[in-house]
Amino acid sequence: MKAIQAVRGMNDITPDATPYWHLLEDRARGVLGAYGYREIRPPIIERTELFRRSIGEVTDIVEKEMYSFEDRNGESLTLRPECTASCVRAAIEHGLLHNQTQRLWYMGPMFRYERPQKGRYRQFHQIGAEAFGLPGAELDAELMLMSARLWSSLGLSGLRLEINSLGSREAQAVYRETLTRYFEAHHDALDEDSRRRLHSNPLRILDSKNPAMQELVTAAPRLLDQLDPESGEHFENLRRHLDGCGLEYRVNPRLVRGLDYYTRTVFEWTTDRLGAQGAVCGGGRYDGLVAEIGGQSTPASGFAIGMERLVALLEADGALTDAEDPHVYVAAVGSQGGFAAHPLAESLRGSLPGCRILVDAGEGGFKAKLRRADRSGAVVALILGDEESAAGTVAVKSLRDQRPQRTLTGEPLLAALRELLPART
Ligand code: HAM
Repeated sequence: MKAIQAVRGMNDITPDATPYWHLLEDRARGVLGAYGYREIRPPIIERTELFRRSIGEVTDIVEKEMYSFEDRNGESLTLRPECTASCVRAAIEHGLLHNQTQRLWYMGPMFRYERPQKGRYRQFHQIGAEAFGLPGAELDAELMLMSARLWSSLGLSGLRLEINSLGSREAQAVYRETLTRYFEAHHDALDEDSRRRLHSNPLRILDSKNPAMQELVTAAPRLLDQLDPESGEHFENLRRHLDGCGLEYRVNPRLVRGLDYYTRTVFEWTTDRLGAQGAVCGGGRYDGLVAEIGGQSTPASGFAIGMERLVALLEADGALTDAEDPHVYVAAVGSQGGFAAHPLAESLRGSLPGCRILVDAGEGGFKAKLRRADRSGAVVALILGDEESAAGTVAVKSLRDQRPQRTLTGEPLLAALRELLPART
């Protein structure tokens, strides 16, 4: 019979990789918590309407990437392609936005029907932060500083920050017309995608990856040159905050992002180390979205990190090769030895809670078990045969140096393990 395989673009995260995910998750929890952000867990499925209204009808995500289906009541539902819209919906629904500020974070799977390639998947994971009720540039700066601190807590370097301002909704509307006129004047040079976007979403033409379009895109008028005065001041303030903290960035006037809800600040963190999918984090301000989804007008700003891409960087650095190896390998042989293994291991787990103990009490002799102990990466083997079991002792063998084997029990056994495993006990 043919084996059933996973759905294309949806990956298993295997036990070799999970230590890197744990590292990322733990550090993210620590850093986000240290800035006063609290976790929210919205459901993975929402009404399709939520994403249509927030992300925008004429975006790649809504036009062709959503996993939408009708449930048994005929209602159109969608596996979330991102979580900003869900956070806004949840914050409105639970009255979290009335006369208060909220700093929220989330972590979990997102779904987009994209063409899978390295770094781009159909089920992928994000860690995101969304803050509500704070209109100033200091919040945008905080989000960038917080992401930078996460990179340094993970030992990652070489990530670059790009920032831009998309101005107010009104400035965007004026700019859209300017841009449409510009691209209309060069209609012959536009590729098919851009022609389709010309009247619906000309800003997205700036995001074109088609090399043939680059010259035209580079020469296009820039929104940054015609910002409304308040957005201009907001952008200057953002730069002052970042400069004041010594956070390096590059102003990229072509940075437009793939979702329609942004106003003013947008930003992205990128790396050269991941090939074509170099964006590891993207975000920005979306002051209009809460009202568009039916809440009271509330300023907001946030970002989301692509976890697969960060994990790929961590794996390439190989920081964690022995993260989940056992520390102690109990090699029990014979009937009495076998039955003594669990009582011994349970008592050690009680006394040494930080210690990872693996019990091998099944078939096989000492030789095979010691070979397996060595291969497991354990630091110590505890050898338990019928003889040791009858005497209530165990032979302690250090696997990573030449210390002589000793037969011990009770407190001296614990002391020997503490000495051999100073960091874990
Ligand atoms: P986004 O730029 O669509 O923004 O996604 C953020 C990050 O998720 C990307 O930079 C990338 O690292 C990762 N990502 C996106 N699509 C995929 C994929 N198919 N496979 C692997 N990784 C992917 C948002 O989602 C916004 N909600 C961010 C935001 C929050 N803006 C304001 N608040």
